[in-house]
Order: sequence, then C-alpha cells, then structure tokens
Amino acid sequence: MFEAEDPELRIRAGSWILAAGVGMFAIQAQAAEKVTQERVMEIIEESCTFCHGDRGEASNPIYPRLAHQNRDYIVKQLKNFRDGRRKSDIMNEQAADITDVEIEALAEYFAAQPPLAHPLPDDEQERLLHKVGAYIFKYGDPYNDIPPCSTCHGKAGEGSKTLPRLAGQHRQYILKQLKAFSKRERTNDNAIMHSVARRLSPLAANGVALYLSTLKPLSE
Ligand code: HEC
Ligand code: HEC
Repeated sequence: MFEAEDPELRIRAGSWILAAGVGMFAIQAQAAEKVTQERVMEIIEESCTFCHGDRGEASNPIYPRLAHQNRDYIVKQLKNFRDGRRKSDIMNEQAADITDVEIEALAEYFAAQPPLAHPLPDDEQERLLHKVGAYIFKYGDPYNDIPPCSTCHGKAGEGSKTLPRLAGQHRQYILKQLKAFSKRERTNDNAIMHSVARRLSPLAANGVALYLSTLKPLSE
C-alpha cells in the first residue's frame, strides 16, 4: 500500500482509498439489485402470472392471492416449497430453481401490491353464512375449544410479519387449506392450524372462509 512520509498526506490517502472502496461497494450492490429486479419481473411473467396474476390477484379461485401477502410469510412458503417441506406438485416444481435473493425480491413485489377483497354476498343464505363466519373469526367456537382466528391472524385478517394475511383471500383456497391442515396434508408447520382446523365443522369452515374472503383493510 502507498506509504507517505507526511502524516497528513497519509490520512488523506487513507480516506481516498476508503471512499473508493465504499463507492465500488455501492456500485456492485446497485448492480446486483438491478439484475434481481429485472430477473424478478421476468420470473413473474414467465412463471407466476398464469396462476397468481400479474399483481397477485390470482387468475382462478383455486390459486391463492399473493397481493399484499406478508413478505416474510411468502419467503418462508417459497423456501418450504423449494425444499419440499410443503408439498404441492405444482409449487414444488415452480420453486425448484429459484434462488434465495430471487425469493426475497418476489416476496417484496407481491407484498407491495394493493390488497383486494371479494364483495359481500347478496343472497340471503350466503349472508347468514357470512355471519356464522364473522362469529367464528371474532370469537372462535367456545363450545368446541376453537380459539378466535383474529387472535393470531389480526383483527382485520391482516396477519403479521410471519403469519399469513387471510383478508380478501379466495374462499375456495382457504377451505382447501383448512382441509389440508385438518388432515395434515399441509406438511410444513401445521401443528397450530391442525389443532384449529380439525375441530371446525364444515359449516364453520365454510362460514369463516366466506367471511375472510370479504375482509377489507381496517382503514377502508
Ligand atoms: C400452475 C399454477 C401455478 C403457478 C405457475 C405458480 N403457482 Fe404458486 N401456487 C399454486 C397453487 C395451486 C398453490 C397452493 C398450493 C397448496 O395447495 O398448498 C400455490 C401457492 C403459492 C404460495 C403460497 C401462498 C400461501 O398463501 O400460502 C406462494 C407464495 C406462491 N404460490 C408463489 C408462486 C410464485 C412466486 C410463482 C412463480 C415463480 C408461482 N407461485 C407459480 C399454483 C401456481
Ligand atoms: C394460535 C394461532 C392461530 C390461530 C388461533 C389460527 N391460526 Fe391460522 N395459521 C396460524 C399459523 C402459524 C399459520 C401459518 C403456518 C405456516 O407458517 O405455514 C396459519 C395459517 C392459516 C391459513 C393458511 C393461509 C395461506 O395463505 O395458506 C389459513 C387458511 C388459516 N390459518 C385459517 C385460520 C382460521 C380460519 C382460523 C380460525 C378458525 C385460524 N387460522 C386460527 C396460526 C393460527
């Protein structure tokens, strides 16, 4: 390294080398981020849009909405699909070749999309079913040892850093997951939801799935 006799010059040379180092690092970091951003849009268009929609709205009610889903929850599920801990013929294949950085960028993209909600039903029978669901969500089923969903998934079904957002999700997907938890066919992290879902009657499960699909963010 450059050694100067003059102590002041030595300091100046040192800080120049430091500044150059920081600059290089920033350029490299920016380049890595940019590649990832482009790569992410490419992955979404090539591999995800067909089922989950451009902005996570989902093209069909059997596919989960990813719009506004919580970032860390998405990261965890994608990693679990990739390593096979959460089994799904479709998603195990979709996640097989995605890297950690790509997973994080995909999660950030979908988490940043605006939340969506289904309209309230106008059929009388469905409206009453919706009320059954509201009760289960807020109070659980105290006669059957089922805790309120809202204690973990949030007052408006918004979830948390690690817990999934349920608000506005497709009813059909929610029902399918409740069945999968109940039979332990959802293979990753199913302990809590298995104990909840196995006690839900079909009426309660249908009610709560319908109710959740209509939940909007609290501010609306
Ligand atoms: C052919 C349809 C299809 C494609 C393409 C697809 N998915 Fe999925 N995805 C599904 C299905 C079906 C599930 C639900 C799996 C289950 O039943 O557990 C799912 C689940 C998920 C979940 C978990 C959601 C939750 O609420 O737990 C995430 C995250 C996800 N997909 C992300 C992606 C990403 C990112 C891509 C693109 C790389 C992608 N998917 C491509 C069909 C698809
Ligand atoms: C004690 C906490 C707790 C309670 C109470 C609870 N859940 Fe969950 N729920 C979880 C956890 C934890 C997960 C995520 C598991 C994972 O990370 O894979 C989850 C996941 C889910 C999922 C999957 C979401 C997705 O996007 O795939 C659904 C659906 C769900 N819960 C519905 C319910 C309903 C309906 C109730 C009330 C009847 C309820 N939960 C009560 C903790 C809870």
